[in-house]
Amino acid sequence: METLAPPVPSLKRLGSAFADCLEVRPARPPETTGRLQREVLELKKKRNAIVLAHNYQTAEIQDVADFVGDSLGLSYQAAKTSADAILFCGVHFMAETAKIVNPSRTVLIPDLNAGCSLADSCEAEDLEAYRKKHPDTYVVSYINCTAAVKALSDVICTSGNAVKIVNHAPKDRSILFLPDENLGQWVMEKTGRKMELWRGACHTHAIFTSESLQRLRAKHPDAPVVAHPECVRAVRLLADHICSTEGMVKFCRENPADTIIVVTESGILHRLRREAPGKTFIPGPTKTCSCNDCGFMKMNTLEKLLETLETMNPEITLDEEIRRRAFIPLQRMLEISAQP
Ligand code: 13P
Repeated sequence: METLAPPVPSLKRLGSAFADCLEVRPARPPETTGRLQREVLELKKKRNAIVLAHNYQTAEIQDVADFVGDSLGLSYQAAKTSADAILFCGVHFMAETAKIVNPSRTVLIPDLNAGCSLADSCEAEDLEAYRKKHPDTYVVSYINCTAAVKALSDVICTSGNAVKIVNHAPKDRSILFLPDENLGQWVMEKTGRKMELWRGACHTHAIFTSESLQRLRAKHPDAPVVAHPECVRAVRLLADHICSTEGMVKFCRENPADTIIVVTESGILHRLRREAPGKTFIPGPTKTCSCNDCGFMKMNTLEKLLETLETMNPEITLDEEIRRRAFIPLQRMLEISAQP
C-alpha cells in the first residue's frame, strides 16, 4: 500500500518552546497582566484592528479578543471583518486562512513559529505528486493545512462541518481526506463514505489515552465525556459526544450534568467556565499529565500581542496565485456549510 504521509507528524517548528502543561509557564503579577491587556485594547482601537482568538488561547488572550471561536467560526469572522488589520491569535494556518479570504487587509500573528503538527504533516509537493497519480480523486482537506495544500484541494472542511462537507462530495469519485487520519476515520464512521486517509495526526490530541480517560471516568462516573474528533479511536469510543471546540461549548451549556470531562486542549476550559458558569470542567488526561496544552497555540502571549500591534509585524504574506487558488475550496466550504 502506498504511504500517504510521514508516519509521525513533524514537529520541526515547535522547538524548545513546547510546554507540556499550563502550570509550567512563568507567572507574572496580575497588575502587569491587566496593564498589558489595557494596552492591547487601546492599541487595537487605534490601529482599527480586530483580535480573533481560537478557543485554545490562554484566558488572558481570550479576554481581549473581539471573537473567540473554533476554526469554522473564525473563518466566518475573518471573511466578514471590516477592520484594517486582523490580529490572529491562533496558529499559522489559521492566520493564513484569514489572509486568503481578506487579501486587502493586514493579517498579523503574534508568533510566526506558531505552527501545527497537522499542517506540517502534509507537504504541498507530496500532495501534488499524489494528485498527478490519482487525477480523479476528490481532495477534502481539513483546514489545518498550509495555503499551498489548500490551493491543491477541491474543498476544505473544519471539524465542525467535516461530515456535511463529505456528505456533499461527488458520489462517483474516490476521496482523499487529509491531513488528520483520526478525524478522517471519524468522518468515515459518520458518513459511511470510504476515504483514503493521509497519515497525519494532531500531536496534542493523539496523546490522550483510553487508559487514563478510563481511570478518570471511574472517579467521576456521572460525568459525561466530550471529545474532539482528532482524538484516537480508542478515546473517541469512550466519549458521550464528539464535536469541534465550538460544539463543546454548546454541549457543555446544554447538558444538565454539573461535571463534564473535556478531552481537548485545555485552553477551552476558560471559555467553558465563562459560558457555563457553576459547572465543573475536568480536562482530559494524558499518560503523563492531568491536562494537555498545545505548545504552538501557547506561543502566543500578551507581550507578543502588544509588540505585534506596535510594530504591525509579523505579517502574513502569501503568493497571490496560491492565495487565489486556495480561496476557491475555502469559498466552497463556506457555501456548503451555510446551507441548511
Ligand atoms: P476546532 O476549533 O475547529 O474544533 O479545531 C481545533 C483544532 O485545530 C484542533 O487541533
